[in-house]
Amino acid sequence: MPLILGKAEFLNPGGSVKDRVAVKIIEEALESGQLAQGGVVTEGSAGSTAISLATVAPAYGCKCHVVIPDDVAIEKSQILEALGATVERVRPVSITHKDHYVNVARRRALEAKELASKNRKVDQMDAKDLVQVNGFTSEGDEQNSVFSSDCKGGFFADQFENLANFRAHYEGTGSEIWEQTGGKLHAFVAAAGTGGTVAGVSRFLQEKDPNIKCFLIDPPGSGLFNKVTRGVMYTKEEAEGRRLKNPFDTITEGIGINRLTQNFMMAELDGAFRGTDKEAVEMSRFLLKNDGLFVGSSSAMNCVGAVRVAQSIGSGHTIVTILCDSGMRHLSKFYDAQYLAQHGLTPTATGLEFLGLQ
Ligand SMILES: Cc1ncc(COP(=O)(O)O)c(C=O)c1O
Repeated sequence: MPLILGKAEFLNPGGSVKDRVAVKIIEEALESGQLAQGGVVTEGSAGSTAISLATVAPAYGCKCHVVIPDDVAIEKSQILEALGATVERVRPVSITHKDHYVNVARRRALEAKELASKNRKVDQMDAKDLVQVNGFTSEGDEQNSVFSSDCKGGFFADQFENLANFRAHYEGTGSEIWEQTGGKLHAFVAAAGTGGTVAGVSRFLQEKDPNIKCFLIDPPGSGLFNKVTRGVMYTKEEAEGRRLKNPFDTITEGIGINRLTQNFMMAELDGAFRGTDKEAVEMSRFLLKNDGLFVGSSSAMNCVGAVRVAQSIGSGHTIVTILCDSGMRHLSKFYDAQYLAQHGLTPTATGLEFLGLQ
């Protein structure tokens, strides 16, 4: 029998694996001077990272402004606002569009920085002057009314490209898995959103023991499976920027992507599996009934991946995965019977027969 271990990241204070990332991003930004107390951390996030940033930012004397697509479960924005963050819901568009939520978040950081420099009245800003944040320049095309007049600058957290994300998992998640298993594990598997988790953990574990196999589990609509298994991300038609990511590609949230991020590129992977929405839904109900675990869609997909890895490497192995967040954040879709029925995803399994197991 294989042993599957789930690292219970949903128990973190901010409720997800992203707490580590939020802490690391803010600490590195403060250390480098790119963020100051009283400044605003902005992020374009489909939820968890934003919730973690909103949770930890006040402890560093900072504020949090979040931009998310308006098709994300409503309870996520409600939590953010309750935590004191400001939230902007925008329509989902391609990453190449200037109003993609990630691009809006980047722009907001620039606006906050411009506002702070005006407030300091250092120099009257010349119209030609451009302010730089994380290497990007402002086009100065937007108003800055979303921030208070005493704002002390802005920093774009940039979880997809900021390697503080990778480092949080390399130094934290990866080393904890190593310590908590006493180095006695054979494989690790996780889905990727930014790729920070799978990259940081796989790098750390493979440096400790090159025999540990690391895998990706990829949801529908994501190009990463192709990238890992065939070296090609997508067909021309599927390339991000050419197509609008269809919100019905997958019911899972926070995982799956059609571009290569700096964080994902740090991963050391031995292979990849594909998981379906139906498998993720069935797995979540299996975990509920058999393990008393109420987990979110990405955690369920990760457990699908763990079974796939177990089937591929054979019995007698220990496989580790991540339980990223709780089912509490997924009530309006993943745990909503009506929504599932509308999408042909009503769970029917009594065991793990949906993965070919009796
Ligand atoms: C709920 C949830 N699970 C999993 C992930 C994927 O983790 P990573 O971004 O480290 O690849 C995310 C990322 O946004 C997420 O929000």
